[in-house]
Amino acid sequence: MKRLVLTVALAALTGVAAAQAQNYPTRPGVVIVPFAAGGPADITGRIAAEIFSKALGQQFLVENVGGAGGATGTTRAARAAPDGYTLALGHMGTHAAAIAITPNLAYNPETDFEPIGLMSTQPVVLATRKGFPANNLKEFATYAKANASKLNMAHAGVGSVSHTSCLILHAEIGIKTTMVPFTGTAPVLNAMLGEQVDYVCDPILGPLPHIRAGTLKAMAVATEKRHPLLPETPSATESGLPGFQAAPFYAIFAPKGTPQAIIDKLAAALAAGLDDPVVANRFATLGAVITEKNDRGPKPLAAMVKSEIARLTPILKAATGN
Ligand code: MLT
Repeated sequence: MKRLVLTVALAALTGVAAAQAQNYPTRPGVVIVPFAAGGPADITGRIAAEIFSKALGQQFLVENVGGAGGATGTTRAARAAPDGYTLALGHMGTHAAAIAITPNLAYNPETDFEPIGLMSTQPVVLATRKGFPANNLKEFATYAKANASKLNMAHAGVGSVSHTSCLILHAEIGIKTTMVPFTGTAPVLNAMLGEQVDYVCDPILGPLPHIRAGTLKAMAVATEKRHPLLPETPSATESGLPGFQAAPFYAIFAPKGTPQAIIDKLAAALAAGLDDPVVANRFATLGAVITEKNDRGPKPLAAMVKSEIARLTPILKAATGN
């Protein structure tokens, strides 16, 4: 008798969950961006929130939860109710690099999330404050080697894209400088405009307006070829530093246990939203590369997280000496 009651109760619960997933979403949702407002992660998270709001008929808002290189917000997202109403913007830092270099990371990027889909990759540029005494990557390397103890590299926290990209640069040049953490690279850029810190390794879309305005300087783009939005700036490969490569992925995740029907709705909305000409144009003007059709959805994102962890772990362990 007891067993029968339990079975009936379980079936009823399953039915309720299935109905909820079918009607999803019936109320507003949130996309947690684990960095300060105004930076590349925030801008990308806002594009995702707009895509979901438009496609799913409920408002999705961005909540900025900065701190600990993205770990604070990402942990909050991992522990949120798996009901599709709390999502997370994650990237190469939060979902790959962090596991290699953040001690006691409170979440596992591979097992605590349901991947929804990749959005873009965003090439990194090495940018300096305007008064920095170098004008290209070669001069930067020479000056940094001779003056490493005086230099401040600013970043968005240990394990973030800006932190790990500059660690790769440091390992390539053979320098160790003082590292100054912020809650995101938007506040880093303000500090650079005030000449309080020396340089940052940030996706192009952050420093781009300042580089164009001449208030920050671009030393090199961390890619093989030049970037069309920064045609005057040599690539790292051209500058003789081919090992300095960084084009982090940006993606959307849901907490582990989110019902499959909800994952499917979110993944379809995101994949279709990337084809919206307004979204495509927005990413193009920001210097980001939209994920190809075949690489959209949960499976390619799960594969990306796995391969980025495998790629970055030895590089970052060597760079940090751990
Ligand atoms: C930001 O969006 O503030 C930064 O790009 C985050 C990061 O460096 O990972």
